[in-house]
Amino acid sequence: MTRIDHALLSYPAGAERLKAVVLDWAGTTVDFGSVAPARTMQHLFSSRGIELCEQESRRHMGLPKKEHIRGILSLPRIREAWAQKYGSAPADADVDQMYAAFIPLQFACLMDYSAVIPGVAEAVAGLKARGLKIGSTTGYTREMLDMLLDSAAREGYVPDCSLTPGEVGEGRPHPFMMFECAKRLGVYPMAAIAKVGDTPADIREGLNAGSWSIGVAGTGNAIGLTQAEYDSLLQTEKEERLVRARRELAEAGAHYVIDSVAQLGPVLDEIDARLHATGNSNALDRLLFTPGPLTTSASVKSAMQHDAGSRDREFIQTVRSIRTRLLAIGGASAGESGYECVLMQGSGTFAIESVISSAIPRDGNLLVLVNGAYGRRIAQMARIHGIATETLEAAENETISPAAVANRLSASQDITHVAVVHCETTTGILNPIEGIGAAIHRAGAVCIVDAMSSFGAIPIHLESAHIDFLISSANKCIEGVPGFGFVLARHSCLMKAKGNARTLSLDLHAQWAGLESDGQFRFTPPTHALLAFRQALDELEAEGGPCGRMARYQRNHQTLMRGAARLDLEAYLRPEDQSCIITTFRYPSDPGFEFTRFYEALSDRGFIIYPGKLTTEPCFRIGTIGRLNPDDIASLLEAMRSVLEEMGAGMHQIA
Ligand SMILES: Cc1ncc(COP(=O)(O)O)c(C=O)c1O
Repeated sequence: MTRIDHALLSYPAGAERLKAVVLDWAGTTVDFGSVAPARTMQHLFSSRGIELCEQESRRHMGLPKKEHIRGILSLPRIREAWAQKYGSAPADADVDQMYAAFIPLQFACLMDYSAVIPGVAEAVAGLKARGLKIGSTTGYTREMLDMLLDSAAREGYVPDCSLTPGEVGEGRPHPFMMFECAKRLGVYPMAAIAKVGDTPADIREGLNAGSWSIGVAGTGNAIGLTQAEYDSLLQTEKEERLVRARRELAEAGAHYVIDSVAQLGPVLDEIDARLHATGNSNALDRLLFTPGPLTTSASVKSAMQHDAGSRDREFIQTVRSIRTRLLAIGGASAGESGYECVLMQGSGTFAIESVISSAIPRDGNLLVLVNGAYGRRIAQMARIHGIATETLEAAENETISPAAVANRLSASQDITHVAVVHCETTTGILNPIEGIGAAIHRAGAVCIVDAMSSFGAIPIHLESAHIDFLISSANKCIEGVPGFGFVLARHSCLMKAKGNARTLSLDLHAQWAGLESDGQFRFTPPTHALLAFRQALDELEAEGGPCGRMARYQRNHQTLMRGAARLDLEAYLRPEDQSCIITTFRYPSDPGFEFTRFYEALSDRGFIIYPGKLTTEPCFRIGTIGRLNPDDIASLLEAMRSVLEEMGAGMHQIA
């Protein structure tokens, strides 16, 4: 099987699994090499004094036969030969006459080339046994097809329905035979159907129908040999011809190319797996086991398929409702005695930087609590803005202790602001922000929480955790797409940020004031990301809010930890400090393990994991957030097992 990666970048989605396969006839299920139509075309043109080479007779294969004839007559060499012979270029009337002559010629040899291709009857029986319905389409007329149907049935191949171009008005590459098949088989959506055929016209028929398109290279038109001729080819020549044939079908847009229908089973398994894995998430794409961007649902992605005007009333209303709903997720009331929500273009770091560079006055002092790379990043950005900054550091596998924060604040009375990362995604450790917030509150400082990778999945109550600024982004646990971050800010603290900003575009107060005055962003908003985010919020709500989402992420995490134990993978953190967001594993000690190979092999199988970020040890990370469920984690674990085995890094078993 050849997987055509560029074709698979976007593929039919919206079905849970395949329900039907539509097979072409000549070259796919009967008539190895699609010899009957090619010979008939050669015979027909020869009767008009024009000899066709093999390629000329086959170039338009798959089209309705009249179109096939018209196609040959439109080839420059044939037009010229025709004009020389008959005094003028071929006209429509010539096409009609040629077609009338073609029909008896085709009938005369059809049965000589009607044998069912070896393996087809067995493969189709297998497809039926897995619950698939079998449709068929062709470029032949009904009378011709009826002859083939009879003889194929005698050899054990009986599709559930068959369509010819004349019955639907237009043949390939139009999709109407496919639509009629879907209707007669009672199957929908079209993404639940796979079209299988040996010509570019077949491939386009499938694509135009919105179905999966699978090319058959070996038994079909592109090689164009009878089985005996094909079998007698030298292996090298066979390979060369196969490569060319596969390329032709791939270039026509096939999602997969096989050599014969007998090889269909594994392709259908893979399509089913893709539909299953992305039942909620269509752009396939590989599954992302990362801290973000994350795998998102199909509905979130499709919510972006609109061009919203940034000043449009409906869009402004969307922005307003997003701001309100985010406050609700933080359990915060809006207004002067409560909190405000400010949306900020850019990735999460931009939103953090807008807080750091706006909330801290020129004479302020910032303490950053650091037990990973994201804490260090906050300290770095503060220093770039010339803010007096100190850090309180803990080891990367230790949580920040509220008592240590309290001690530091009582020793350093000039600290005005404290920043902490809730889930330090560097490792997946969860810092106790409630206790830390209480210590900061008692010391009278302002509490800034980077809740980038936790907000939306780990319930946070802003007021009771004494949080003054909380920052997160669209593409983390709310499962939107990248494009903006957001800040939930205590109103009184936000007001004090007025005039503090060190930059124009990241001025948090000005951004808020803009949104408040006319509902608009000061500068171009990420309109598509906001539309997707509105849908993501609906889906968070439908899942039961942060508690419901956390329950799924916990199931994901538990599945991961059980499987990792069987693979002898050692988690970096103690279980009690570990979040359900992302987990760090030490490299296996087996000498055969090599991370780049491990990563690439998993990526080839459709799974993206994440490199480590520890300062001290080589490690990798696996995220369990985004539109993933325990089945996806189980699939990843199985892939990890097989890759580790391939690398000779232990014989591991997933029970
Ligand atoms: C805790 C934390 N803070 C900050 C960031 C930076 O976010 P972004 O990459 O969206 O700028 C991340 C990203 O994963 C994160 O996990």
